[in-house]
Amino acid sequence: MSSLDIKTYLKDIATRVDDALDHFLPDEDRMPQSLHKAMRYSIFAGGKRIRPVLMMAACDAVGGHRDHVMPAACAMEMIHTYSLIHDDLPAMDDDDFRRGQPTNHKVFGEANAILAGDALLTEAFVLLANDETGGVVDPEVRRKVIQIVARAAGCAGMVGGQVVDMESEGQDVDLPTLEYIHIHKTGALIKASITIGALLGGADDQSLKKLSRYGELAGLAFQIADDILDVTADQSELGKDVGSDEARGKATYVSLLGLRQARERADELRDMAMETLSDLGEKAEPLRQIMKFIIERTS
Ligand code: IPE
Ligand code: IPE
Ligand code: MG
Ligand code: MG
Ligand code: MG
Repeated sequence: MSSLDIKTYLKDIATRVDDALDHFLPDEDRMPQSLHKAMRYSIFAGGKRIRPVLMMAACDAVGGHRDHVMPAACAMEMIHTYSLIHDDLPAMDDDDFRRGQPTNHKVFGEANAILAGDALLTEAFVLLANDETGGVVDPEVRRKVIQIVARAAGCAGMVGGQVVDMESEGQDVDLPTLEYIHIHKTGALIKASITIGALLGGADDQSLKKLSRYGELAGLAFQIADDILDVTADQSELGKDVGSDEARGKATYVSLLGLRQARERADELRDMAMETLSDLGEKAEPLRQIMKFIIERTS
């Protein structure tokens, strides 16, 4: 698969996910209109959809059916989008731009942004609990999926990482603390996306284990790349504020190790992630290309 093909692969899945999200989210003209408008505003502002893409790619890697994964992929994107809306609030990172548009609270006000985030999180679990695939997914697998998502989003996952991220502002943190932040605030949802894709795709225990490990490595690498982009990216291309981490005294790989070592660590994680895929053959080629994309991306 050439680098051009991976762009097509990403775009193709993103388009399908957007259509499904449009189907699953409440219409804007339904009451309360302002809430549904705020939810849809951030969802459709233009994210990369990397978590749904990873979920589909993990499903592809084990030869599963993508239809079985789509509701969970949309749920994950809803939870991720909620985390971004709250992350941008004045009480947190206080950022003005996201996905190339003014942040949710800038447009709808803080209270509505908090509530739109709350609603996206909650509706994601409605979507996961409903049998949107028409009985093809085993109820026990669905229960496991809900548990994995809840753990990844909660205090042992993304929210836990966000708390330590906030507490570490302006502090001298050591590498294990920084790694804790990154693995939790960002790595948890990414690892969960891949694990769920594999699980819903019918992976055997060994593939599931290897793909979960790939997910762990990809998740940490993704946040290291995010730290690097905060320093090196072009704001209009990135679609969100640059230089925000330094301004807030955030603990990042760049602030702790410098750009060169941060890049080296990302390369190391890529190589380790590639190894986890060695038994999966050609079907895992999208996951290999996505791993490269994660650390080479410019937005
Ligand atoms: C940004 O995530 C926040 C992090 C967890 C690093 P993405 O870079 O996936 O943002 P979108 O979804 O494409 O906007
Ligand atoms: C985001 O980390 C992690 C989330 C759970 C949203 P950042 O604060 O670095 O993400 P950006 O750079 O604002 O997208
Ligand atoms: Mg943050
Ligand atoms: Mg932020
Ligand atoms: Mg960042």
